[in-house]
Formats: sequence, C-alpha cells, structure tokens
Amino acid sequence: MDNFTFYSPTYFVFGKKEETNVGHYVKRFGGSKVLLHYGGTSAARSGLLDRVKSSLEECSIPYVELGGVKPNPRSGLVYEGIDICRKQNVDFVLAVGGGSVIDSSKAIAAGTVYEGDFWDFYQGKKVEKALPIGTILTIAAAGSEGSPDSVITNENGMYKRGASGEGFRPTFSILNPELTQTLPAYQTACGITDIMAHLFERYFTTSKEVEVTDRMIEGLLLTMVHEGLRVIEEPDNYQARANIMWAGMMAHNNSCGVGRVQDWSSHDMEHELSAIYDCAHGAGLAVVFPAWMKYVYKNDVMRFAQVASRVWGCSMDFSNPENTAVAGIRAFEDYLKKIGMPSTLRELGAKEEDIPKLAHTACFGDGRNGQIGGFVGLKEQDVIKIYQLMV
Ligand code: NZQ
Ligand code: ZN
Repeated sequence: MDNFTFYSPTYFVFGKKEETNVGHYVKRFGGSKVLLHYGGTSAARSGLLDRVKSSLEECSIPYVELGGVKPNPRSGLVYEGIDICRKQNVDFVLAVGGGSVIDSSKAIAAGTVYEGDFWDFYQGKKVEKALPIGTILTIAAAGSEGSPDSVITNENGMYKRGASGEGFRPTFSILNPELTQTLPAYQTACGITDIMAHLFERYFTTSKEVEVTDRMIEGLLLTMVHEGLRVIEEPDNYQARANIMWAGMMAHNNSCGVGRVQDWSSHDMEHELSAIYDCAHGAGLAVVFPAWMKYVYKNDVMRFAQVASRVWGCSMDFSNPENTAVAGIRAFEDYLKKIGMPSTLRELGAKEEDIPKLAHTACFGDGRNGQIGGFVGLKEQDVIKIYQLMV
C-alpha cells in the first residue's frame, strides 16, 4: 500500500424526508445568507424546491436563487453565480440536484472568495478555500456530494476539465433515496454506470498489496450489480435506491482509492465526448470503459481475471487466466446492455471522423502533457485506437 492522507469532513444526513431539515443544517454550519442553486425543472416539479425554501424560511435564513444548471455544467452560469454571491454577501452555497448542480455550486463557492478567474482551478490550481457548500442530492451518480472534485465545461472552446481540493468537500450532504425515485430509467442507469466506473478507475492499479481497498471496491461493485438490476426492474424500490445512493458516495469520496495508484483515463476520454456531444457522462462511460478494458487488459491479466471471478462470478481458468479476464469484460458489457446503456460512439451522437481531434485534446488539451492514465500510460496513438474500438 502506498502512503496517503485522507480528510473527508462532510457531515452526511441520510434518509427519508431529511431535506425538510436543511435550514437547521445551514444554520448549524454557519450559513446566514444562502445561494440556492439548482438545475432545470426536476426539483421544482417534484415539490423539492418548495420544501427546501420552507425549511430555510422557518429557520429565518435569507436566500437568493440561481437555477438553470445544465447537465455538463457550463462556465457562464458559474460567473453569474460568483457575481450574485459577491454583490449579495452570500456566505453559503446550497446545491439542490445532481453532480452538475453540485459541481457548479463548488465552482461558484471557490470563485467567490478568489481574486483571479475561477477557471484557474480547472487548470490545476488546488482549491484550498471556498464558501461552505451544502448539498441535497437528487441522483446517485457522480459522487460529488462527498468528493473534493468538480467538473465544468468551458464555453470558450467547449472543453471539460476537473478541479480538485479540500475546499471542495461539501460541509454537509443530505441524501434522501426517495428523491431519486422520480428519475427516468435512462438517468438511473447512467448513474449506475458512473458509480461502477469510479470503482473500476480505482481498482485497476499498479500498487501492490492493496487488499483492503480491493475488497471494499469488490463489495461495492457486487452491490451495484445486484441493486442496479433491481432498481431498473423496480424504480420505486426504496431499499435498492438507498443502497445505490450510499454506494455512489463510497465509490467516489476516495475511501476505497487511498494508498493505490488510480487510472482515470476512461474518464478523460469520456469528458471529451460529453463536452462536445453533450451526452450524459454515464452513457459516455458505458461506451468508453469496455473499449479501454479490451485495449489494456493484457498489461495485467491477473487483475482482470480477479475481478471477473470475484465480481462477475466467472470461473477462474488457471491454465489460461486470459479466458477469465475476457469473460469478465464481456459480463460487464452484457450488464450495461441489460440496464439500457449504449455501446457505440454513434449512439452518443459522436462522429468517427472526430476521433483524431478527440484523442489529441484528451492527451494535450489545456496543459496535459501527452499521456493519460495511471494504470497504463496511454499516448495519443493508443487513445485513437481505443476510440476506434467504440465505433
Ligand atoms: O436539471 P434537472 O431538471 O434537475 O434534470 C436533471 C438532469 O437533466 C435530471 N435529474 C436529476 N435528479 C433528478 C432528475 N430528474 C428527475 N428526478 C430527479 N430526482 O438528471 C439529469 C442529469 O443530472 P446531472 O446532475 O447532470 O447528473 P450527474 O449527477 O450524473 O452529474 C453529471 C456531471 O457530473 C460530472 C460529470 O462529468 C457531469 O458533468 N462528474 C463529477 C464528478 C465529481 N464532481 O466528483 C465526478 C464524475 O466522474 C463526473 O465527471
Ligand atoms: Zn464519473
């Protein structure tokens, strides 16, 4: 196991109706004026937004609203949010929504207390300071409710980049699985795929002797395989939604990523797709991840065979473990098909002729040094070949 530090100070509130206590939590964590940030129409339609406002009003906490966050959130609204927070002396940002709303909230929270351009953080500057952020999560997917990360699309060129830092860990996150019952099946499946991808990005590692995190990841993957199928069959199943919601948090707050090298090249390749074609992040990962697996598995056949046997239940072929490794990748592809995810670039609206451009930006865009991936280092030519496997 490698050396690490781990600091995860988020206060989690999990369960039915907990969003009605949000005013109390804002107060408890020092907020006196709130930016209430949300997405399109789902939070208003379900009545969630009214419940949140009532709770803030009951606790006498004034708020300013900023809705309209789009999936794959954009820089324009972030600048608007920063401006509002500064002019109106906001001291707490409350995100009501999914990863996109939370990421936009994080960008606003950091940008408000920073003198330079908030985009500096998305070009590598660590986020040390931000306004406190609270979240009410409405989709189990990105894990932003517990992560120190945020991903924003810069409208000036349409490229998507991540920023990171302890200042981005939410102060509190309210996770009520009931809120995810209004999700369309496709969005639920995108979330399931993203959660599994966060686990795989960590599982495929060059670090040795990482039994504890290996086993945690395998446990979470087994949960996702089982509960994912159950929730697609029974969208109102509270227990399945609850298990997925907590797995989504665990998959990405890095408790199972510490002490090990992680990969993340599939996320880098996917971010190019959702930035340009505006597809859902999870759907993009469903196309990218199996292709990446097929391209790299020979670098560590035993690790692929291990996950195939422990998670997908494939029988271990000791005389030729490559058979087991390949069977595991196939099982993952079958699973994605079962939950209704796409498998080709075309289904995402992506064009084959764009591949060289996608690969170039993935490797060199915005200050990258020409190589991505921690498990297997991929150069531009490798990335081209991986995108070609998705055609
Ligand atoms: O805008 P509304 O109307 O709310 O609709 C949203 C949106 O269209 C809808 N939705 C959310 N909750 C709902 C609901 N519809 C009905 N009922 C509900 N309860 O779902 C759509 C997708 O929402 P979004 O927030 O975009 O989904 P997700 O949580 O998957 O977030 C995706 C973003 O997170 C980034 C992705 O790149 C992408 O931009 N990521 C962030 C990470 C992080 N901060 O740590 C890590 C991830 O790897 C990921 O890259
Ligand atoms: Zn992701």
